[in-house]
Order: sequence, then C-alpha cells, then structure tokens
Amino acid sequence: MENVRIFGYCDPLSVRAGERVDFMVSAEGTARVEAQLVRLIHGDEHPDGPGYLDAPVASPLDGALAVGRQFTQVGSFARGADPAGRLAPGGAFSGFAFIWPTTPGGRSQTLFGRWDAARVSGYRFGIDAQGRLELALGDGISVAHLLGEVPLFARCWYLVGFSHDPASGETRLYQEAVINASNSLHAPILPYAYAERRAGVLAQAILHLPDTPFVLAGSHRSGTPAQVVDLYNGKIDRCGLVGRALDAAAFDAIRRDADGLPGRESRLLAYWNPSIGYGPAGIGDTLVDQGPAALDLEGFNRPVRAMTGYNWSGRDDSYRLAPEQYGGVHFHDDALIDCRWTPACSLEVPVDLPSGCYALKLRHGGVEEHIPFFVRAVTPRAPIAVLMATASYLAYANEQLSFSSPVVQPIFGRTPILSEDDMIRVERPELGLSAYDCHSDGAGVCFSSWRRPILNMRPRYRMALGSTWQFPADLSMIAWLTHKGYDYEVLTDHDLHRDGLAALQPYKAVITGSHPEYYSWRMMDATEQYLGGGGRLIYTGANGYYWAVSFRDDEPWCMEVRKLDSGSRAWQAQPGEHYNQSEPIRSGLWRNIGRTPQKLLGVGFATEGFDASGSYSRMPDADKPELEWIMAGVPETLIGDFGLALGGAAGLELDRYDLHLGTPPGAYLLATSQGLSDNYPRVSEEIYYMFPGQGATQDYQCRADVVFFDTLNDGAVFSTGSIAWTSALPSRGFDNPVSRITANVLDAFIRPGPLPGRAARP
Ligand SMILES: [Fe+2]
Repeated sequence: MENVRIFGYCDPLSVRAGERVDFMVSAEGTARVEAQLVRLIHGDEHPDGPGYLDAPVASPLDGALAVGRQFTQVGSFARGADPAGRLAPGGAFSGFAFIWPTTPGGRSQTLFGRWDAARVSGYRFGIDAQGRLELALGDGISVAHLLGEVPLFARCWYLVGFSHDPASGETRLYQEAVINASNSLHAPILPYAYAERRAGVLAQAILHLPDTPFVLAGSHRSGTPAQVVDLYNGKIDRCGLVGRALDAAAFDAIRRDADGLPGRESRLLAYWNPSIGYGPAGIGDTLVDQGPAALDLEGFNRPVRAMTGYNWSGRDDSYRLAPEQYGGVHFHDDALIDCRWTPACSLEVPVDLPSGCYALKLRHGGVEEHIPFFVRAVTPRAPIAVLMATASYLAYANEQLSFSSPVVQPIFGRTPILSEDDMIRVERPELGLSAYDCHSDGAGVCFSSWRRPILNMRPRYRMALGSTWQFPADLSMIAWLTHKGYDYEVLTDHDLHRDGLAALQPYKAVITGSHPEYYSWRMMDATEQYLGGGGRLIYTGANGYYWAVSFRDDEPWCMEVRKLDSGSRAWQAQPGEHYNQSEPIRSGLWRNIGRTPQKLLGVGFATEGFDASGSYSRMPDADKPELEWIMAGVPETLIGDFGLALGGAAGLELDRYDLHLGTPPGAYLLATSQGLSDNYPRVSEEIYYMFPGQGATQDYQCRADVVFFDTLNDGAVFSTGSIAWTSALPSRGFDNPVSRITANVLDAFIRPGPLPGRAARP
C-alpha cells in the first residue's frame, strides 16, 4: 500500500469575514481525508511550554473530504498558442536566439520549438546531452536530427540559429560567441572554439499540428495532463523566426544588429524582444513579439526578468538606465510559483469568525496536514494587532539550507536535526524552493510564493537548529496573548503592503513577528507613518526590516528579493542584476538604501548564533523613574535565562542599539544580552577587515539590546532585539520576567492617554 501523504495550500493567505478562501489538496495513498477547521493557539512542542494547542471551529468543511493526487508543472518557460500556424512554416525557415546557457550538457534541453514530444511532430531547436546544438524535425513517426560539433561554454553569450529548406533538405546550424568585457564568464581574449557552422541534409517532412503551442525554454508534450519537458537552464535574450533559409552572413548581420531585423527582414515570422516592456511597474511575464503576427509569449512559473542581456556593457547597473541591455530572461528547470491545483474545498469565512490564525486540519491514517490562513477583522475594534510576518514566511518557505551541511553545521554550531518533513521537502520538486536556496544551475532563488504547500509554515514544525522559526515561533506570541486574555486581532504583511497605513492606524499597539526580516517599501512607509502618527510598536524580534522586497499588485502571492553583495545571504545576485523586476527598486539590504532598521526599531542586526541562547543583564536605564512602568514587578538583574528557543530569551538572531546606525539619541537601553558564545559572530555587513576576535566573547557589538523610545504624537517603540524573546513568553506557565516586561509595555501602550513618565523623557 502506498504511503499516505497529504499536501495542501490555500489562496489567499489572509481573508476577512465574508470572503472566500480556497484549499488545494493533493493526497497520495488515500482518496479521502478528515477535515476540521481549527483556530491555532500554539505550535512549539518544547516540553517547557504548553505544547501544541488548537481550538476546533465548527464549519461546513468539517468531515470527510474527497481528495486525489494533483499534477504540478515544475520549471519556468514561455509559451504561446499558435492555432493559425503562423509559426509553422510550410517552406524554408530559420530560427535564432541569443543564449547564455548555464548547464549545457548532461541532458537534452530545448531552446525553442513548435514541437510535440509525445507525437514527435514539428520542430525543436536545443542543446543535446553533449552540450551541442541540436535541431530535430518530426513528421509524427520519424525524427531527423542535425547535431552541432562544438559544445557550448556555460555562462557565455552566443547567437545560435538554424535554417532548413524542405525543398532541398539543406539544413544549417550557426553558433557564434557574443562575448564582451562584462557580459560573460570569459573575457574576449581566449583562442577557444566558440563558433559552429554545421551543414547537412535532412530529408524529413515536418508535421505541424494546430494544437501545438510555441514554447521557449522547453518542449510541449501532449497528454493528460499536457506537460512541458526538456526544460532549459539559462538566459535567452532576443529570438525569432524567419520564413526563409538564412545563411551565415545573415546570422552575422543579426548578431551585429538584431533590433534592426523587424525593419529589414520582409520574411520575418516573429521577433521576441524581451527588453520591451519595462515601466513604472517593472516588467511582467509577457515576451513581446515585434513580428507581423504579434504572437506574444507568456512566462510560466515566472522566468526571471530584469536580467542582463547579450549586449550588457557593464556600465549601466539597472534596467532603469538602459532597458535595451536588459533583455536577458533566465529560465530554470526547478522554478515553481504556482502549483495550479484544483481546489478540494472552499470556505466562505463566517461573519462571526473572530480575527486570528486558523488552519484547515486534514487527517488520514495517522498523517496530518495543517493549511494555515489568517482572518483579519472586517472592522478593527481590538486595541492590539499582531502583524504576522507573511513576507518572511514566504522567504523561508520550504528552505533546503538545512541540507547544506558544510555551511549550516558551522552556522548552527551543532548537528542539524532533520525531520521527516525536511526529507520530503528535498525529495519533492513540486514543493518549490525558498529565498535561501539556489536553482539547479546555481542561481539564487529570487521568487517565493504561497501557491504551493509550505511544510515549514506549519504549527508543529521545528527547524533543523532545534527550535521553531517564523510562523510556528510567532504562535508563541499568539498563545501568550490568548493566555493573558488580551483582545487582539491579526494582520499580515500582505495586508500591510496592500492597504498601507490604513491597516495599522486603527490599532493602539502593533506587535511584530519574531523575525520580520523581509519588508517592502510600502510596508516600510506605512510603519514609519504609523509611528510618526502616534502608533506604538512592540518588536519582540531580531534581524527585522532587513531585505527590501517587492510584490506585484495583481499577484500578491509571489514575493521577489535579490540578495546583493552585502548581508547574511544564501546567494548573491549576478553583477547588474540588483533591481527587482516586480517594481523598479534596488533590492538588497534596507541599510544600504538609507533606511536602517535602527531608525524605526531602535535596534538592528548585529549577530546570529544557534548553539545556545543567552539572557539579558539589566542596564542602568531600567532603573530610571520615567521607565518604572516597564520594569514594574521585575526585580531581577538577570532576565530571560529560560525559553523554548535554545534555553534563553536572547538568542538565534540579535539586534543592537547603535547611535551611528540611527538608533534615536533619546532611546533608553534597558537590558543587554550576556552569556553568548563565539558561535555568535559579527554580521558580515559590518566587517570591513577580517581579524580574530569578532565573536560575542570578544566583540561587544555582538549583542541584543532591549530599547524603548518615544515617537511623535505620543507614539513609542519597544524592541527586544532577539528572535528568542517570543519563545520565552510561554515558559514557566507564562509567568516570568520576559512575560511581565512584555505585559507592562503592552498594558501601557493600549491604555488611553499619554504613556507613563512621558514628561520626564526627551
Ligand atoms: Fe533570517
């Protein structure tokens, strides 16, 4: 009997009462599962806390649910239907493309074609398993091939092409490097064989089927379901088709002046120019055809745009300066943006369902799946909002970094502890990758989406470092608020990005997640406006407001980030590819675009370590009378030597008070971390020279700080500078100094009127 597996995701991730959320489920080993709607209270199963807690909620979804296995198309490509056969010439024809292959050889890859791999019909131009050009022509029964002889180098630009004349059978392959000082892995000084001029005779009829689409970076394979196979890794820039047999001189002319082709080639069938389409919203998934039929292609699983093209000079570092040099489109055989599964069920959110964290719980034969989603208030009325860090949940979605043992074991300072969910993640390409992973060709993953099962955004999930992380860790704040009886509502990063200040404004106090690392411009602006307008923020986290990310307005499920040449980064974008395609902003660290987290939070990223968490020492500011209300009932000088995250409240990732980085000069420093090992080194963006002694036992700047400051209009910020703080809230039955300090601050933040001691502070 097949092992039972249940995978699911929902869309959207955040809903209001009266709105609908769809649940997509794929199950193996069973045709039905038991469904139950639950409100999530706590996830972390550490024995020092309350364990997993949920509350069943009666809904029409309760009971048996019919499910089946669903197909997922993995890999990015571009495609256009061609029912009129405009790209299916009966006579002589040629095709060409500027390409920058990243994994030539090893297996067959299709650059483009109007080809059906199941019915061996049409034409297909690609790279064979030896890394050489290959043209295939099929009549539905037999296939004829012409193979090149000169393998392609990886990461070098080429113009490649073919021509075929059915009358004579004469067929040619063309290949020529287009290398300048910046655009390729090689300098243009090498005496290597880049060029190919292969000729042969293919006496092969071509059967053009009307229902075969034209595909770029893959081949269509008809069937149920139809699939795209032979996926290509690498960039493709301008490409096209001509209704005559081009000779080498004609290809040379394209190489010298491709964009002149539509004006000079009377037999042009198609000319896709991916440098067309940049604007105030960045660039979308459409590849514009400047040929007579205007057969635009649509990207699938979001091919990466805003990438340097064959003509990139290196002098301009953004498509905003030289869009014509940004025709590069990077395709990946393992990209996944949207599983496109059929919904198994849907929920109209009942009007009386309170705002909170929910999940559809699916069970069968001892196997359990939670599909979490968030319900925000139709009309906010609670004084408190918890801002669930959904952008950061996406960044980490299904990360496989834990398997990179040469990197992760020293970072963790311990042996990674892998779970069955971790094993499933690496075995299943249909679950996709995270912003901490690289594609199969080594390029960083810059998109992450919620339209796929996210196994580490589940309440019980523990990261390989032996602690919860992101969503399951943030549930410790939810459990604490619930236990203490606070009246709270939840919001998500996505709500904040969409609605801006209006999302936060109704609330007296906003609590962030434990690790709100990924933040968009709109989120940053809204947070700043909220604080300037008298809002009060509690940041019980660290490494917040770190990466500048983007979303498309019409596709909020997919987040974009580019990791640049600074910061704790799992990968690094290529030169010239530092601007997001989803909106025209430079990605990378917020601190590198003038918006350090210290300016809004009072603290910013200083160090990270995962061997053990430390605690806090009380600092002199904690005894000042104007802050008495924060420390009331907390006589301890050592705070937080307990917690569900590696045994302390100051741990995992830590943020520091730093006046030179924008901590407000009037900010108070109430406590600072202690007891950290040298597994907590200084963050790389602050290291200009390498020398010994940059770990926490010697470098005083490797620390977490608890900070308070006032903002305009009686607003305020309270920050703890540690991811582990949130996980210390439930310790000792929720009765501990970390809990008391947090409650003191929250109580004061939501009480009407000015904050206590305000007149005595700057
Ligand atoms: Fe992080």
